[in-house]
Amino acid sequence: MSTLTLNLEKIYDEVTKKSLSEYENKVKQAITALHEKTGKGSDYLGWINLPSSVEESHLTEIEQLASQLKEKIEILVVIGIGGSYLGAKAVSEAFSHSFSFLKDKKDFPRLIFAGQNIGEDYLSELLEVLDNKKYGIVVISKSGTTTEPAIAFRILREHLENRVGKENVKNYIIAITDAEKGALRTLAEREGYKSFVIPGDVGGRYSVLTPVGLVPLAIGGFSVRELVRGAMQMEKRTKNTSNFWENPSAVYAATRHALYSKGKKIEILVNYDPKLHYLTEWWKQLFGESEGKEGKGIFPAGVDFTTDLHSMGQYIQEGERILFETVISVKTPQRKLTVPHDEDNLDNLNYLKGKRIDEVNKMAALGTTIAHIEGNVPNILIEIAELNEYNMGQIMYFFEKACGISGYLLGINPFDQPGVEAYKKNMFALLEKPGYEKETKIIKSKL
Ligand code: PA5
Repeated sequence: MSTLTLNLEKIYDEVTKKSLSEYENKVKQAITALHEKTGKGSDYLGWINLPSSVEESHLTEIEQLASQLKEKIEILVVIGIGGSYLGAKAVSEAFSHSFSFLKDKKDFPRLIFAGQNIGEDYLSELLEVLDNKKYGIVVISKSGTTTEPAIAFRILREHLENRVGKENVKNYIIAITDAEKGALRTLAEREGYKSFVIPGDVGGRYSVLTPVGLVPLAIGGFSVRELVRGAMQMEKRTKNTSNFWENPSAVYAATRHALYSKGKKIEILVNYDPKLHYLTEWWKQLFGESEGKEGKGIFPAGVDFTTDLHSMGQYIQEGERILFETVISVKTPQRKLTVPHDEDNLDNLNYLKGKRIDEVNKMAALGTTIAHIEGNVPNILIEIAELNEYNMGQIMYFFEKACGISGYLLGINPFDQPGVEAYKKNMFALLEKPGYEKETKIIKSKL
């Protein structure tokens, strides 16, 4: 069975194996605190045993809903932001045809996302394309009060009502929110929308294996069973506190912390497959929102190689030496394509004739790794055999667990996000939201 491997050969110049072993006890304590729910933010540890507690009946219900909707709609608009958006986006991008927007026939509804920005043009253009399409909406918000998805939902709900009729609209809307709290729960109950519950003890960025990720992904035709199965395998593998070296999340968390302690303050997640772009966005949110507090935390950045070797590559090679890279390498692509022979060889590429495109990509990766290490950018390597839902489940849980451990190594609460409130408070004050009268006065005096 394919399994994720962590390769640290390329960091040992910077951080020795012995110095990583010194983390064993601290990491063990962090894992125990996570499992026994005795550390900071312990009310939000529902994700720890989530993969193994997803019930068969839950998966069946979601799959049945997906097959019913498949007959009714060609597009599913998934409304949400942050943790209520990025998990489904990451998985769907990884397993969708790169040019699906140009392909005519599709067996499953295409997923389109909204509510992850406040772009007037974005929303207007979305309404324009939906004007003549059969579509449904999955609206996701744990708090049920987040402004961006609430605005998008209000607009799209009205649009959908005009298309299918006020009396039918509820058959095309699914709400995913808290069991009791928030405006979305109230609306769902009043309007009779089909709804799913986000468990109270699972925070947004750890919620991909709750209905937040599973419902839209199943409707989009992705194998949520395999996603959960992969995560379950990693849940089992990372429970281990007895052998540090056999627990990849433990070793990754220790390595990041050791590099951070040596002044490597920026971690760049690197991929060589454009399908992984949104996995990086998901990872950035997971680590950024979890660790960046109290004046601490590694800044999570991301690049798509080789594309970004022609932009950020220069900085990585020769800029400030505060970087390390974590490279996700996929051993075998899904398809096969080779470089053809050309009689004229004007482009001088015949030396590559017959080689698979992926072989060229792998040599670019190896060459880059060697160059970056020589430029004092340590490399952590994460390898998976191929890109499929099972392996994606492993990767996501691997990172979640590592993020929890990393947060505890830093001494912060990895499960809250108090800093996100600052912009909201100012925005509400500027928009003169009722209840913010005092803040409005203060902020306007600053303008
Ligand atoms: O990780 C988190 O908790 C956040 O990113 C939330 O997911 C995001 O703010 C959206 O919140 P909500 O689901 O309440 O709309």
